[in-house]
Amino acid sequence: MCGIVGAIAGRNVVPILIEGLKRLEYRGYDSAGIAVLNGGLQRLRSTGRVVELEKIAGSLSATVGIAHTRWATHGVPSERNAHPHVSGGVSVVHNGIIENHDSMREELRGKGYKFASDTDTEVIAHLVHDHLRQGGPLFEAVRSATVELQGAYAIAVIDESDAGRIVVARHGAPLLLGLGVDENFAASDASALIQVTPRIIYLEDGDCAELSQSSLKIMDAFGNLVERRVHISQLSAASVELGQYKTFMQKEIFEQPMAVANTLEVVTSATALIPELFGARAGVIFKETNAVLILACGTSYHAGMVARYWLESLAGLPCNVEIASEYRYRESVSNPRCLVVTISQSGETADTLAALNFAKARGQENSLAICNVPESALIRSSDLRFLTRAGPEIGVASTKAFTTQLASLVLLAMVLAKVRGRLGKQWESEMLNSLRHLPAALTRVLGTEPQIVRWAECLAPHRHALFLGRGVHWPIAMEGALKLKEISYIHAEAYAAGELKHGPLALVDQDMPVFAIAPNDELLEKLKSNLQEVSARGGRLFVLADQDARLSEGSGTDVIRMPDHAGMLSPILHTIPLQMLAYHAAILRGNDVDKPRNLAKSVTVE
Ligand code: M6R
Repeated sequence: MCGIVGAIAGRNVVPILIEGLKRLEYRGYDSAGIAVLNGGLQRLRSTGRVVELEKIAGSLSATVGIAHTRWATHGVPSERNAHPHVSGGVSVVHNGIIENHDSMREELRGKGYKFASDTDTEVIAHLVHDHLRQGGPLFEAVRSATVELQGAYAIAVIDESDAGRIVVARHGAPLLLGLGVDENFAASDASALIQVTPRIIYLEDGDCAELSQSSLKIMDAFGNLVERRVHISQLSAASVELGQYKTFMQKEIFEQPMAVANTLEVVTSATALIPELFGARAGVIFKETNAVLILACGTSYHAGMVARYWLESLAGLPCNVEIASEYRYRESVSNPRCLVVTISQSGETADTLAALNFAKARGQENSLAICNVPESALIRSSDLRFLTRAGPEIGVASTKAFTTQLASLVLLAMVLAKVRGRLGKQWESEMLNSLRHLPAALTRVLGTEPQIVRWAECLAPHRHALFLGRGVHWPIAMEGALKLKEISYIHAEAYAAGELKHGPLALVDQDMPVFAIAPNDELLEKLKSNLQEVSARGGRLFVLADQDARLSEGSGTDVIRMPDHAGMLSPILHTIPLQMLAYHAAILRGNDVDKPRNLAKSVTVE
């Protein structure tokens, strides 16, 4: 979603702002803009890519500025709606949604303000301007303005009558500060500042901060001046650059063996599992846990769907998996002994955060975040946490975040099973051994790419596809369909294969490619009958099968043999071919796989 960069320095900040925007491109955007103070306020905006903005910025030079990539919510993508928005000499960039923008617009119009855009953000610019003209410094004007705002925001503000500072504030949307030597920065994401500083302060909700070239002031929601901890960002430039790969998605697919190995590093040399892998209080919390509620969105929700099978069969815990945006508005029955597990790559997904708060407000206090971003809001809001160590995921389509989530969730199921006396010593050590071999097995699955490319060639001309799985592989079919829709724009549906004859079979003909996940498990024979139903209607079948699955190729049936049979870990392996299938189909269709249309990487608004 939208991205913010701000910089104040003794040198020209324009290249820093542009570079920062480029590093935020992965979040998804439809326009970009920059405002600087160099004698007066200068603003440039573009509906093209950041490189277009860079071109028109030409020889622009200034020591103070703010910049933004916009992902349209209020008002169509256009130059007039692009940020920064201005009011007199005040300029504002904003991430989030101002919910009371309509009433504020009316109020400000009454005071004589004219609106030049359809955005909710413009009210912030006029509101700050209105407070400024009542006297007082920019910092106070921004603080007073934020008191009147309802909704979520991260903002950065500059004022041409005071070129020595940038004021920023956050509530419900991420914002951090970067500390340089005699220069300071602000951004919505640490990757935007990689080229200038690793020293990061994560602002807390309600914080307002003033940055000058050599000083920093942070005030909390209660008006107290506060010091916030300085973190050293572990992000390296290489981790957010393409290297030998053509796209970030391709890079991230191929990074999965390493990402899973890093995530499981905490147990690779262990002989036994301990609850404390999930946090200091995990031993106590897990003992009192009698059910699990998983809250997540999109791909992370699919990881939760897989985890339900593991948690119920291994740990014997009833598990409910809910789409966060639905759960938060549903009258559900709460259970104080339920462990609320949130799953999120970014840790900033607004619906997941709100669902967690909703669950807590209903007396379900014990929470665990499975997340890829250490300092994210989700991690900070949870009692327990487990970090997926996938490294930065830049491609909008989630790949390595998903497989590392699955690896983390297997561990969770095993630990809960052990706490509940259901994991014998022998089984524990066999499972740990399988986890140790998982990265190598993932590497072998990546070797199926040439066969997957041939499948992608068959799939790419089609407009629709079906994905089938059974049991724990049904959510993997859902993830395969989501990936395909997201980047190839081919309409895809996933079904539990037993559901086929209850409706979707009507869609099957020679124009409907059907992809099936068919490991040699206890449901294989049932699945084979479902596949017969497809063949009998002339459907073209593409089957991912184990070596010993007793499934043969024939007219209308293509089989790719998986190199390993991974038992309980099979869903993790079967994810990879489906990711590669979506990737190659999208590439063949000429799509931008890293930045699919209409989508954003971090969905920080409702
Ligand atoms: O950062 P999160 O894991 O919370 O994001 C949730 C979804 O927005 C995300 O998984 C989305 O579905 C992906 N683009 C799918 O590839």
